[in-house]
Amino acid sequence: MTRPEVGLTSPEPGGRRPGSWEGPWAEWVAGRSAKARARHRWRELGQLDALGLHGTDSNGRALVLFSSNDYLGLSARPEVVAASIDAAQRWGTGAGAARLISGSRPVHSALEQELAAWKGEEAALVYPSGYSANVGAVPALAGPGVLVCSDALNHASLVDGTRLARSMGAEVVSYHHGEVGEVAQALQSWSGRALVLSDLVFSMDGDRAPAEALAEVCAAHGALLVLDEAHAVLDHAATELPCDLLRTGTLSKTLGSQGGFVAGPSEVVELLVNRSRSFMFTTALAPPAAAAALAALRLLRSPVGDGLVAALGRHAEALWPGRPGPSPIVPVPCGTEQAALAASAELARRGMVVPAVRPPTVPPGTSRLRVTLSAVHTDGEVEALRAGLADLGLQPAPLVG
Ligand SMILES: Cc1ncc(COP(=O)(O)O)c(C=O)c1O
Repeated sequence: MTRPEVGLTSPEPGGRRPGSWEGPWAEWVAGRSAKARARHRWRELGQLDALGLHGTDSNGRALVLFSSNDYLGLSARPEVVAASIDAAQRWGTGAGAARLISGSRPVHSALEQELAAWKGEEAALVYPSGYSANVGAVPALAGPGVLVCSDALNHASLVDGTRLARSMGAEVVSYHHGEVGEVAQALQSWSGRALVLSDLVFSMDGDRAPAEALAEVCAAHGALLVLDEAHAVLDHAATELPCDLLRTGTLSKTLGSQGGFVAGPSEVVELLVNRSRSFMFTTALAPPAAAAALAALRLLRSPVGDGLVAALGRHAEALWPGRPGPSPIVPVPCGTEQAALAASAELARRGMVVPAVRPPTVPPGTSRLRVTLSAVHTDGEVEALRAGLADLGLQPAPLVG
């Protein structure tokens, strides 16, 4: 039986709308939605026809995106697009099955070798997204007798990986953001294996984790440090950290493609192939996405990449002069949900897309505009944003200690 698409069909005369729900589930959906709306936490999908950072809304109005994590503008770079098209012609648009079922394509292996070299690690494993890399790696290493210490502001994918680890019997401690002393205390009172999880650059604040101090504490207690380097474009992890280390990351931001990865010792990567369910039980990364990421990585590691990173750094400094530790993620505090939404709407009226980030993504009272900068913004676009914020009485500022 074919089921009609919800919302696309009109009600039968005198009957229920085909495909619609009734009864307790319909009441529950209506109640949840009304509650979110009343708290200014309701989200809607906007329509945006865009290539890279420039697009038009559904009325054909031109918009500049300060909302994309395409930090170096590589998603629209001709060499990268061409690599993706070539891969689609050679291997098709999809991988067809999981790699343990249908094998790896040469582009998966080439990408993994170059990701490992880029991160200074022995080996890497690619996943269909950065989310699935984290949500698969953490529980693959955890279980009864394992302590997982997780920064309170870690990305949802590390949080969800931690939830899975807990459901498998691991002990979990959430430490206050950046508080290395709390990590040391937790490790001190634990005699078994331990994992310490942290974003390297935090996704909603753009600040950097105290990676070196975390590494020292981990080394002292034989704990494994898992660093999520998804946003590490301006401020890379020290390549040499003095502890057991696993790096996770995404192909969707700096590399402008789609997918994620874990990098570390070969034995660990081979174990993940055998234990990481979000790798084992899902179709492999699509070859065109893998090829795009590989082409982007080669550009990033060339003088072209140096130039793009320098341009991104310049924009970050122009928008928030003197920020300690430059970052492409710039929080602009607004306070309430309504204030953040109003500021975002006003900037959209001026042709700039800057998302309002509200609870539950961030703590209540810290709603903000989250600006993401890219190397391919022009100086004029960054200046227009700075001026637009100033007109609204807003400016970048830290929301965390
Ligand atoms: C810190 C961090 N880790 C992981 C992810 C997930 O990456 P992906 O979008 O590739 O799933 C994101 C963002 O999306 C992120 O901000």
